[in-house]
Amino acid sequence: MSLIKYKNQFFASCPPGLEPFLKSELESLGAKSLEETTGGIHFESFPEIAIKAILYSRVASRVYKKLYSFEIKTEKDLYYEMKDIKWKAVFDLEQTFKIQILQGKSPDGNKRSKFKNAMYLGQVSKDAIVDCFRKDTGHRPDVDKEYPDAPLLLRIEPNNNRHSQKETVTVALDMCGKALSFRGYRRLSVEAPLRENLAAGMVLKAGLKKNEDFYNPMCGSGTILIEGLMIKGDIPPSYIKVREYHQYESKEWSFLDQNFYAKDKYLVENTKKLFKEVADKASKGIEALESSKSQNVACEIDEKSLKAARSNLDTAGLYNVVKLVREDATVFGIKDFKGKVIANPPYGERLKQEELESLYRDFGEKLKNSFKGSEAYILTANFPMIKKIQLKTAERMIIHNGNLESRLVRYNLY
Ligand SMILES: C[S@@+](CC[C@H](N)C(=O)[O-])C[C@H]1O[C@@H](n2cnc3c(N)ncnc32)[C@H](O)[C@@H]1O
Repeated sequence: MSLIKYKNQFFASCPPGLEPFLKSELESLGAKSLEETTGGIHFESFPEIAIKAILYSRVASRVYKKLYSFEIKTEKDLYYEMKDIKWKAVFDLEQTFKIQILQGKSPDGNKRSKFKNAMYLGQVSKDAIVDCFRKDTGHRPDVDKEYPDAPLLLRIEPNNNRHSQKETVTVALDMCGKALSFRGYRRLSVEAPLRENLAAGMVLKAGLKKNEDFYNPMCGSGTILIEGLMIKGDIPPSYIKVREYHQYESKEWSFLDQNFYAKDKYLVENTKKLFKEVADKASKGIEALESSKSQNVACEIDEKSLKAARSNLDTAGLYNVVKLVREDATVFGIKDFKGKVIANPPYGERLKQEELESLYRDFGEKLKNSFKGSEAYILTANFPMIKKIQLKTAERMIIHNGNLESRLVRYNLY
């Protein structure tokens, strides 16, 4: 069995449906050999490009550095292959680690992994790493399930051959720790908030431009609003984390402590420059939004949600660039508005069926009468409600909001 050692190979994950956006983001950052798969993109690049992806991608969930791959037939093979890896080069004895097992299907999608117990595979892999360190140093590193220095992902996949017992294991290091969707502005939340990278994906699908009017009705805690403002201002999504890192020296991404990074002087220096670039771009972007003539408006009916949106905008430093009002979206109109309306109305968690139906119907009516010349994008997981919006559908896109399959529907408002 042969062990493959990767040098400059990475994988960036994203919510399914957003892969084309991730691909073009990575391409524009200089990544090479991009290969799209469900839920992410494989790519080749120097580590500085992968770090750029962490700082600049709006839709990525995580970025992984691929370390090794090998084939196994049994759990015993897994143990010996894992024990043979030079783990000291990946992380130090004093550092903590964690293993996540992900069992995939064969590339043609027809065959499932034969290994039934993922927990056991995790245990075997952990024992192998511990025994490898013990053999070399006489001591073992600790596991930290919450904040490990080295979060490891083992992807185990069978091959297409029906008769083959072999499965491929790819070992990768999660460079992010906390998912990239946590931008750092959502200190207060509401019921059913959208994941930040999904909201960014919606805004990218809507194609919101720099000088275009932007309206986010039913804004909840303001996720679509803040992501939209960042896109309009060309503000990197990592700017709040970069700020926190400078203020508190907090560990915002796990790569900061990982050996491939921390022991590479050039990479550390280069990342310092990238952090400065992110902070500068954010300041410039906020200034541009402040002096822009285009409108940014959001409304919300519930006082508690409005409070969350205000506080999150404030954390993001974007409070002054938006008109945020407590209004009913079925009656509120905006003078001289022409641009993109992007909304995520309630799915029906709290409202009764009739209330929900009239909300969608009246909101559709409002769009038709007061937002002529604009485009509206509505995200919902409640498909029957789409029919209540008495507008002609221009486009219907599938978006996965966690486990919830949702539709993003476009309406051209003539
Ligand atoms: C699914 S949540 C939006 C969540 C938001 N995308 C976020 O990430 O925080 C829907 C929001 O619509 C608001 N809402 C419901 N009916 C409304 C109306 N008629 N006018 C304005 N807001 C309304 C609710 O209070 C709720 O905050």
